[in-house]
Amino acid sequence: MAGELPLSKLDLRSMETGWSHAKAGKSIDGNALTIGGKVYADGVGSHAESSFALQLDGKAREFTAAVGIDSEVGNKGSAEFVVMADGRELFRSGVMKGGQAAKEVKVPLGGVKLLELVVTEAGDGIDFDHADWADARIDFAGSAPVVMPIPKEEAVVLTPKPGPKPRLTGPRVFGARPGNPFQHRVTATGTKPMTFSASGLPAGLKIDPKTGLITGKLADKGEWRVEVAAKNSLGSVTRPLRIVGGDTISLTPPLGWNSWNCFAGAVTDGNIRDAARVMAESSLVDHGWCYVNIDDFWQVKPGSNDPTLQGPERDAEGNILTNKRFPDMKALTDYIHGLGLKAGLYSSPGPLTCGGCSGSFGHEEQDAASYAKWGFDYLKHDWCSYRPESEKDRAKPAPRLSVLDSITNDEKLKLMIPYATMRAALDRQPRDIHYSLCQYGMGNVSEWGDMVGGNSWRTTGDINDSWSSMAGIGFKQAGLEKYAKPGRWNDPDMLVVGHVGWGPALHPTKLTPNEQYTHISLWSLLASPLLIGCDLTKLDDFTVGLLTNDEVLEVNQDELGKQAGRISKDGNGEVWAKQMVDGSWAVGLFNRGTAPLQVSCDLSLLNIRGAAQVRDLWRQKNEAPASGKITRTIPRHGVALLRVK
Ligand code: GLA
Repeated sequence: MAGELPLSKLDLRSMETGWSHAKAGKSIDGNALTIGGKVYADGVGSHAESSFALQLDGKAREFTAAVGIDSEVGNKGSAEFVVMADGRELFRSGVMKGGQAAKEVKVPLGGVKLLELVVTEAGDGIDFDHADWADARIDFAGSAPVVMPIPKEEAVVLTPKPGPKPRLTGPRVFGARPGNPFQHRVTATGTKPMTFSASGLPAGLKIDPKTGLITGKLADKGEWRVEVAAKNSLGSVTRPLRIVGGDTISLTPPLGWNSWNCFAGAVTDGNIRDAARVMAESSLVDHGWCYVNIDDFWQVKPGSNDPTLQGPERDAEGNILTNKRFPDMKALTDYIHGLGLKAGLYSSPGPLTCGGCSGSFGHEEQDAASYAKWGFDYLKHDWCSYRPESEKDRAKPAPRLSVLDSITNDEKLKLMIPYATMRAALDRQPRDIHYSLCQYGMGNVSEWGDMVGGNSWRTTGDINDSWSSMAGIGFKQAGLEKYAKPGRWNDPDMLVVGHVGWGPALHPTKLTPNEQYTHISLWSLLASPLLIGCDLTKLDDFTVGLLTNDEVLEVNQDELGKQAGRISKDGNGEVWAKQMVDGSWAVGLFNRGTAPLQVSCDLSLLNIRGAAQVRDLWRQKNEAPASGKITRTIPRHGVALLRVK
């Protein structure tokens, strides 16, 4: 057989698209395919991020197409078209923008067995990326190309169940500011009841033998090497814990939960209590998870039709008030703290939050004081309605960090001021509050998040539970590793595993099992804050497995505080590595493509000569030693997470 097969004649249900679904002979919106004003009679309309895999027999001759952004979006949208053959790149369009004329694709296919047509969002998110493969056809000589269906994956729990003997988990370093209430929980897995103890604790701190909670106050700055112990009927175990009294907290990335990716604008006090209760009663707490964070919608929403959101925004003195869904914040944080957990809250430097609720502009001092008085341990401060011009409208200038005096770049200064203002207010509170900047990465926030005292800063827009969103964000973190260090973390947004949904109606994450392993592995390597985004009352075994693997969490929580960087990339295969405190490396071998792929890590890139010990972290199993390189076959959108020494 031989002939020309138009792409539009294939079963396009297996073409992945970041939005809507691929269309034969039409744009993604169903209009005539048009690029740069030129109309094409045939082709396929798709949307970034997209991929389509075809099996060939090695005898096909050529793939041709005209690619570009469909004119239906005007000059909006930007995407990149990539043609891959057996995992190698044959064609890359460069960034194509709305309005541009099409680029011709003409690539030989001799010997090729797997053809992948990929559209990436080109670095600015998928909005308006209406991507056309116009006049796309395959000239074949042997058997006709066959569409590779998106495979069904079984949700296999790889994490072994913890054993009955005590095993200490969680971070090995904890920072606190002297004089403020100290709260750190020593955690362990193993049969209960468990008894905890600690030797060498600094003056002012004590440990509760039943819960492992260390509380009290540090009198002074300093560093203490404490030995913590956990004991049950089957034995006991000890481990060092370094306590650092100083100005910096969150010496390892926070581990917790946030309400946004599940409940969003529908959140209630009851949801928060449920999350706290499940975190404390399920196994999560034994693996170090501790923050329970309320996102947007605890405040009043001016002008809302929803009676539960109506009411005065502030009292006569200007103190922020809660909406009717949150009747008593102090009672709520008491409940959370009573379970040995920590509580988080959300606001905006602007007058309104992203959801249109009351923000902190002009009330930073009062709001920081309210959060501290209520007992919050975490603040996410979300830019949204903030406008730099409004600084001149303040009744009196807000106190802010003097570090800004040295900034001469006006644009950067404008971005920094609102965050430095709240930082100064938080500094005056007698409480350790993790300060999370959220402004989606504007002005390369990683470069200055440290200067305004952020403990973490969002580097991207909002995540959702699609491969294109999660992978698009995760793999874009390459290069930011130089800014991460203890107490200062890049934040690629919250986790989208389990039941998510942004509203009252929830659904199981749309990420496949392998994509979920990629998500947790990558975020652990990135030393990102890990904030679970799902309804904890609907946890299933697979999700619990993803969130309770101590060897994976140890990659995230490593004391050195390094963030992984991309050390090599070959087509769809990427290798990311993170240096660990014991001299070993945590290594992720990723496959961003749709067909299984051999991915190799060249050990010389890690300065490893001779035989290396290799451990599979998800399975918690040693593998055969390797020398020269480590090669694994990685499934579609999957990962192997290894520790190499
Ligand atoms: C923004 C943030 C989200 C969430 C919402 C709340 O979109 O990026 O993480 O906090 O606001 O409205």
